[in-house]
Amino acid sequence: MTAAFAYDALQYPALIFPQMHPSRLAAIGRLHGLASASPIHCRLLEVGCGDGLQLLSLALAYPQAQFVGVDMSQTAIARGEAMRQQLGLTNLQLHAADVCQWECGAAPFDYIVAHGFFSWVPVSVQDTLLALCQRMLTASGIAYISYNALPGCHLRRMMWDMLRQHTSSINEPSQKIVQARELLAWLQVSVTTKTPYADVVRHEAQDLLDKTESAVFYHDDLAELNLPYSITDFAARAHAHGLSFLAEAEYHDSSGASLPDHTAASLAQLATGDVIRREQYLDYLKGRRFRQTLLCRQEVAIVRPAQADAVLQMQAAGHLHEDTAFVDTAIGKAHPGLRRFCASGGAALTTPNALVASVLTTIGNAFPCALSVDTLLQQHLATTQSGSNPREEQHEEQHENPQAIRGTLCKALLIAFEYGLLTLHVDAPAFANSPSEYPCLNPLSRVQLENGQDMLTSLRPSMVRLDSQLGLELVKLLDGKRDRAALLQALVERMQEFAVVGADGKESIQTSEWWQDHLAGQLESGLQLACKMALLDA
Ligand SMILES: C[S@@+](CC[C@H](N)C(=O)[O-])C[C@H]1O[C@@H](n2cnc3c(N)ncnc32)[C@H](O)[C@@H]1O
Repeated sequence: MTAAFAYDALQYPALIFPQMHPSRLAAIGRLHGLASASPIHCRLLEVGCGDGLQLLSLALAYPQAQFVGVDMSQTAIARGEAMRQQLGLTNLQLHAADVCQWECGAAPFDYIVAHGFFSWVPVSVQDTLLALCQRMLTASGIAYISYNALPGCHLRRMMWDMLRQHTSSINEPSQKIVQARELLAWLQVSVTTKTPYADVVRHEAQDLLDKTESAVFYHDDLAELNLPYSITDFAARAHAHGLSFLAEAEYHDSSGASLPDHTAASLAQLATGDVIRREQYLDYLKGRRFRQTLLCRQEVAIVRPAQADAVLQMQAAGHLHEDTAFVDTAIGKAHPGLRRFCASGGAALTTPNALVASVLTTIGNAFPCALSVDTLLQQHLATTQSGSNPREEQHEEQHENPQAIRGTLCKALLIAFEYGLLTLHVDAPAFANSPSEYPCLNPLSRVQLENGQDMLTSLRPSMVRLDSQLGLELVKLLDGKRDRAALLQALVERMQEFAVVGADGKESIQTSEWWQDHLAGQLESGLQLACKMALLDA
């Protein structure tokens, strides 16, 4: 069975990968001295784009930019093409073709991205992709290529081999999945020895059994071809095609922030100043399994370390909060001058600087919106000059000159980015941060609802599942033509069709008066939630 046939036989779920968004790729490029294109005017190619969901959301967000997708699955491209037509997009082209046979035209691309592709195609197709990047990237262009990584995938490869052998005689996808899961379940209970091997097998089997999305399990773990690479080998392949390692798309993956000081010091010694060696030894430490590597043309002078000044022209977004229970371990109690900020995944940053703390608080409160760093700085300078921020008056930085304050802020935000507390963007996508008088659901989500999909694409972009009937009915009504009164009335009419489960567990249909009372207080919070999910047009 060929790869393309497999993707036609069983649909791969359409997903969004925010880490390959051009606003984020541009930010990383500019931090390292590249004149990376703004997503507003860029040309972006996605290879192995599936049904092109990512491209559809980009084409809507940036109408003056050009987007192109190619995928060998006819059915996936047909789904994407139907959505493109529903949305009336003219800045997106989707091609059903083998990338090796495909004529991409003469115009170069600012970004070439391929997610979930490289490890699952033959070496010759990998070479085609790398050659395409070398040939078609603009002078400051960036390629994003994700792949399974070694050494972490050595462990997973052991499972892949067993699954492949066990299911080799089965062609039908659903039977293959059942058979594979049976083997995993059997291994789980039957490998009972107390050995490192048994621990690994049980852990890996559980991890694979936890994959609820059967199509992902089938394509990612039961594929005939699955080729993991170490960063050293991947960088060498890229080098042979005239491409250099720029950074990881999940920038904080390269951070040594979680390492003890002595490990960070020995890592630096092993790296001997070479960025690939550092990445490689870090992977040995972390057992990395997946990489999302950014490449640029070899002739580009990459600035290292990243330039903090570049942050000023960017926007920052972060789902972070202050740890108000923070205790300084050095003194065993809260430190009046030190404040700690945390984000999901354990990222944390402690700062003695009131300006930095105030900016991080503002960024956290505004999430998911990305805020202009320059505007944040100007606001701070205006507040300190007018003396209207009593908390900051006690701190030294008010005596610093604006240039020093700017330097402090940019440096701190760069560190927060390196640690994974926030993301940096160039021309981040726009969406409503508070509901307008006539709230409007974004067109892609509207089409997804019309097509009966339950996963919506937000404008961040990300995938959002609305798990309540009320939420679903509310967003369906957000057509930009209804004010609050009209929304409430329409929502009351819709909700009368649905039974309500009472405290006694019994279902009943409620009157319009009941719904009116029930919903009056919930409408505004529902609209606020839709904004927090980045579902509404700006
Ligand atoms: C694992 S899926 C990833 C889809 C999407 N990029 C994602 O990450 O959700 C791999 C995709 O690559 C496509 N593909 C495989 N070989 C290809 C080739 N030679 N040319 C173009 N597309 C190919 C498949 O059809 C499939 O849609």
